[in-house]
Amino acid sequence: MTAVSGEQNRRWHWRSLRVRILLATLLWVALGIGGIWYSATRLFAKHVEASYHDELKVHIKELAGLVKVEPDGTLRMDRPLSDPRYLVPLSGFYWQVSLEGHETIRSASMTRGSLDESVAHDSTIHHHVEKGPSGPTITYGFIRDVPGAGEVHYVIATDERLLDETIASFTRELTVWLIALACALVATGFLVVTFGLRPLDRLASATARLRAGTARELEGDYPTEIAPLVADLNAFIDRSRETVARARVEAGNLAHALRTPLAVITDEAERLAQTERTSRSAQTLLEQSQIMVQQIEYQLARARSGASARSPGMASRIEEVLPPILSAMHRLHAGKTFAVHQPEGLDTAVPVDPVDLSELLAILLDNAGKWGRSEVSIGMEEAPEGLLVRIADDGPGLAAEQAAEAFRIGTRFDPGIPGSGLGLAIAKDIAVAYGMTIELCPRGDGRSGLEVRLTISRA
Ligand SMILES: Nc1ncnc2c1ncn2[C@@H]1O[C@H](COP(=O)(O)OP(=O)(O)OP(=O)(O)O)[C@@H](O)[C@H]1O
Ligand SMILES: [Mg+2]
Repeated sequence: MTAVSGEQNRRWHWRSLRVRILLATLLWVALGIGGIWYSATRLFAKHVEASYHDELKVHIKELAGLVKVEPDGTLRMDRPLSDPRYLVPLSGFYWQVSLEGHETIRSASMTRGSLDESVAHDSTIHHHVEKGPSGPTITYGFIRDVPGAGEVHYVIATDERLLDETIASFTRELTVWLIALACALVATGFLVVTFGLRPLDRLASATARLRAGTARELEGDYPTEIAPLVADLNAFIDRSRETVARARVEAGNLAHALRTPLAVITDEAERLAQTERTSRSAQTLLEQSQIMVQQIEYQLARARSGASARSPGMASRIEEVLPPILSAMHRLHAGKTFAVHQPEGLDTAVPVDPVDLSELLAILLDNAGKWGRSEVSIGMEEAPEGLLVRIADDGPGLAAEQAAEAFRIGTRFDPGIPGSGLGLAIAKDIAVAYGMTIELCPRGDGRSGLEVRLTISRA
């Protein structure tokens, strides 16, 4: 659960590719859609205004053609304007014709109010926004001079509200469509990011499997952009595995090369120790040879374990490495029992090289066999930090200050039992290389003896 949410967090971290691509998509969609919205509404408003103005110009010309001035100055109209909206009361379409000193005629739609005839102040068509019978109107007017009658004022008007309503309804509809388009684009971006970056998720889990030791290389098919990287990484992993193997072989060879001359020196020193004249020098030679043997054994054990060059893709199971160690322990420590307690269903797979794990467990079991009186128990359980292995014996145990010292090279507290004092130093080296913790504590059940607690991280 925590691992899953941790992975989710990483996926949606602000530095993740996903979040960056999505933010860029959001920004791009916002700018694009915003730009389309702004320019489309502007263009539409301009277009609607222009067509309204053209229409009114046509209407005022038609009006001028239809109104007759009688010789007595009476204004007369034989038929109405062709647009029926001038007949519907307060429709928003109005006209008015006036001649000084005579009755003004108006459209049937203008059941109240009047139009400002000052708009018509010369012979060219002018337009203004004026107060009209049903709100502000776009008013057009011009004057025609009728010989013998005077100046006739022609005024025609449309409610500005009609124009505004047309533009507003277009804007509303456009906004809804553009919001839908923006949502579709963002959803597409989300899908593209989710599917497009899947190979990287697969690569992450392949790397996790490699680190956990359940795979020996990065597995899976990858797109052409990533495949060369995966192939290179796999080649690198192979090479580092080979390097470790070669280093182990060379370390073994070095051991053989040094052991024989050292054995000859030790033999010679022992022979010289017989002679009184050389016995003191021989003693020094023997002591120094002993230190050399100790150091060589320690360094070779380290090199052999390969712990210093831990390579990916390693895994072992406790129940698989334990049996050969136990049969060796039965032979080495005859008469002592080694009881394994493994809970049902416990997964003992750990990302540790089997050779290193065997060596580590052999060192701890050998100590328990050497100092335990009759019984050694090996327990395993799941702990928050990983797999916890407890090896408990019924021997004398160690005091707290001895336990702290015991990991140093050559430290021995009990010269009565043979050993070189290297076991725990090597065990500690292996443990540190794999991020394990190893503690020497008194037994938990209050009986005398030592309990070694080895916690093996699974990551
Ligand atoms: N289970 C144990 N009970 C009591 N004392 C222990 C136990 N394990 C280790 N010690 C003490 O810690 C010392 C260091 O142990 P370590 O395994 O490093 O060396 P060793 O067993 O003496 O020699 P080597 O393992 O190199 O053959 C031992 O000499 C012993 O005094
Ligand atoms: Mg030992």
